Amino acid sequence: MSTPRTEEQTVAFTVENRIAWVRFNRPEKRNAMSPALNRQMMRVLDELEFRDDVGVLVLTGEGTAWTAGMDLNEYFRETEAKGLAGTRKAQRESYGWWRRLRWYQKPTIAMINGWCFGGGYGPLFACDLAFAADEAKFGLSEINWGILPGGGASKVAAELLNFRHAMYHAMMGENIDGKTAAQWGLVNESLPLAQLKARVTAVAEVLLQKNPVALKATKDAVRRVREMNYDNAEDFLVRAQEAANSYDNEGRKEGLRQFLDEKTYKPGLGAYDLSKQKGA
Ligand code: COA
Repeated sequence: MSTPRTEEQTVAFTVENRIAWVRFNRPEKRNAMSPALNRQMMRVLDELEFRDDVGVLVLTGEGTAWTAGMDLNEYFRETEAKGLAGTRKAQRESYGWWRRLRWYQKPTIAMINGWCFGGGYGPLFACDLAFAADEAKFGLSEINWGILPGGGASKVAAELLNFRHAMYHAMMGENIDGKTAAQWGLVNESLPLAQLKARVTAVAEVLLQKNPVALKATKDAVRRVREMNYDNAEDFLVRAQEAANSYDNEGRKEGLRQFLDEKTYKPGLGAYDLSKQKGA
């Protein structure tokens, strides 16, 4: 780009067939997360979260990167020069949208098309599902320039990888490709870049056929129960189920009706037909 990108231009999105494709949009900077990008991403998430024409959100990147992590100049050097207040503000802006994404109303999919470094592990973990290109490269590069993997990155490694992989990944500063990321559990699957979008679209289309209230309750439940013992989780899930029912009392009844009375589907083999639900 000859003229500098405006804040608004740091994130791009389109909505097609109820899938919101949100893109880190600083390809000339390998989609590094600057404070401007972090602010704009929060605005975009805000705009899309409760739109009726959006059922699934996919987060991907323009160009050769998913995201090269925090912008070493604008996020680190420039904000540090503004003192502690500047640093804390920049942290709030980035951690804020990752947190928002972790508890997003709609199901979310990270589609990792290329480089994914450091701070990028925040949004990677925030997305419910993750699909990578075999060609993508993942790295905790912090150690290579002399800091610890902060901003949640060490936590993500410890959450998603086994202990030995997490230590090796954080301490060695070596990159892994999409296939290894899938083997290690950092992403669900890896496949050739040329097939990535089709696979993610197919996954999103399956999610679009599920009861949206149940999906939100389910994704939150899986995140919450990780930190609970069995009894606490059991109790939490009873309450969460009752709360979800209060938002959507008809959905599960319709699901039971189509299986038990109509015999038109089997829950073990697929989802009930949402379009037959009252008020759908
Ligand atoms: N912060 C700031 N600028 C970055 C950046 C980052 N994290 N990642 C890339 N850029 C910039 C480069 O400085 C360069 O800018 P310039 O054109 O003004 O010189 C531009 O993006 C292109 O990067 P370049 O290094 O030429 O691209 P590449 O395709 O050869 O290499 C990477 C891609 C991602 C391997 C390399 O850019 C890199 O190592 N980035 C840093 C990754 C990192 O450590 N992130 C962790 C931060 S917590």
